[in-house]
Amino acid sequence: MSSTPWWADQDVWRKTAIWVTSLMLVALIMLTFDTVKQITAGSERVPAYSVINHRIYYRVDTERNLPAPVIGAEAPLFGVVLSEPEAAALVDKGKLTVQAKNCMNCHTLLGNGAYYAPDLTKAWLDQGWGAEAVREQLMLNFLMDPESNARGYGTNRKMPDMGLTEDEARGIIAFLKWMSAIDTNGFPRNFKPIKQEGE
Ligand code: HEC
Repeated sequence: MSSTPWWADQDVWRKTAIWVTSLMLVALIMLTFDTVKQITAGSERVPAYSVINHRIYYRVDTERNLPAPVIGAEAPLFGVVLSEPEAAALVDKGKLTVQAKNCMNCHTLLGNGAYYAPDLTKAWLDQGWGAEAVREQLMLNFLMDPESNARGYGTNRKMPDMGLTEDEARGIIAFLKWMSAIDTNGFPRNFKPIKQEGE
């Protein structure tokens, strides 16, 4: 009989380590599946791409005490109602362009990226666009020629011309509209939405 107490026994700690690691591995795998489900387009907080056919606005969710996006009546982007696959293709084009042009070099998207220029998560709802009726056109003008169409988003900085084609700019606008419909638990904080006419 050894006189080592159980808690000083190496074997006990080796087995405990194996159990804890295995348990955590299982928890991690389950959480990963759950996260993927939550962030997939078409889930509760991340709407399907065809949300770009609808009006999106902000309303304070009194239960959580933060502003949350609300999906309203039909308001198709550039006046054209798109099917789910068409909307997905357009948003995809915008997302791929944002990646290819490395907009994250200056901007953040959902908090990821650089802090030189405004976060783009809710850019679709930004006050800078003045009024909903002119927003799409102003965004298109701005993206295609930001130097002449700067609206001043409180940064006093200028965005360079990114050499976007009109199709790419339209894709980006669809991507930004879709992203603004994501329920981000109020991120970015203190965001001031565009004047919302009616509801
Ligand atoms: C070199 C830095 C830089 C890069 C790269 C850049 N931007 Fe910008 N962007 C800015 C700055 C600075 C502003 C703010 C301009 C102002 O206040 O007038 C801005 C503003 C914007 C806005 C308006 C923001 C708002 O709050 O409504 C949008 C939309 C935008 N950029 C999209 C893009 C996209 C899409 C790309 C990639 C194709 C891109 N930017 C790449 C610097 C950059």
